[in-house]
Amino acid sequence: MPRYTLNVNQKRHSVEVAADTPLLWVLRDQLGLVGAKYGCGVGQCGACTVQLNGAPTRSCLLPVSGVGSAQVLTIEGLHPQGRHPLQQAWEELDVPQCGYCQAGQILSAAALLKQRPKPTDADIDAALSGHLCRCATYTRIRAGVHRAAEIAAQPVSGPKKAVKA
Ligand code: FES
Ligand code: FES
Repeated sequence: MPRYTLNVNQKRHSVEVAADTPLLWVLRDQLGLVGAKYGCGVGQCGACTVQLNGAPTRSCLLPVSGVGSAQVLTIEGLHPQGRHPLQQAWEELDVPQCGYCQAGQILSAAALLKQRPKPTDADIDAALSGHLCRCATYTRIRAGVHRAAEIAAQPVSGPKKAVKA
C-alpha cells in the first residue's frame, strides 16, 4: 500500500493506506482524531468538515492521495487549550445539543471569521449553509459566531502596571 505524509494540526504523520481512502477515515482510524464525524459520506451534511490550507473541506470526499502537502486543521488543532473564540462562545451560549455536527460548523465558522472578523447574519448563513444540524441549533450557532467575533475583538489584557504611591 502507498505511504503518505500528511500535515495535520501542524504535525507530520506518515500513514500507509489505499490511495482512495477518504481523508476522514485516515483522520479517525489512523490518527485517532475523531472530532470530524461521518454523516452522509457524499458531501451533503458538513459533519466531516476540516480545513485544508484554511479552506473548509469535506473530508469524506477527499481521497488521501489528493491531500499532498496541504495543511490540514481539525477541531483538535484549532486552539491548544480549546479556547478559540468560537469555542469560548459555544460554551458561553451553550450552543451544541447532541454535538455531532458542531466540529464541522466551528471549522467553517473559523474560516469565515478569518476572512470577515465582523460577519453579518447573511455572511454566517452563507458560510454555514452546507452544514446540517438535526438538533436545529441554527439560531444559537449564529449567535455564537457573533459572540466569537466580539470575543476575538477584545483587547488581550496583559499584567497590570504597578501604581506608584
Ligand atoms: S459526511 Fe462529509 S459531508 Fe456528510
Ligand atoms: S447539535 Fe445535534 S446535529 Fe447539530
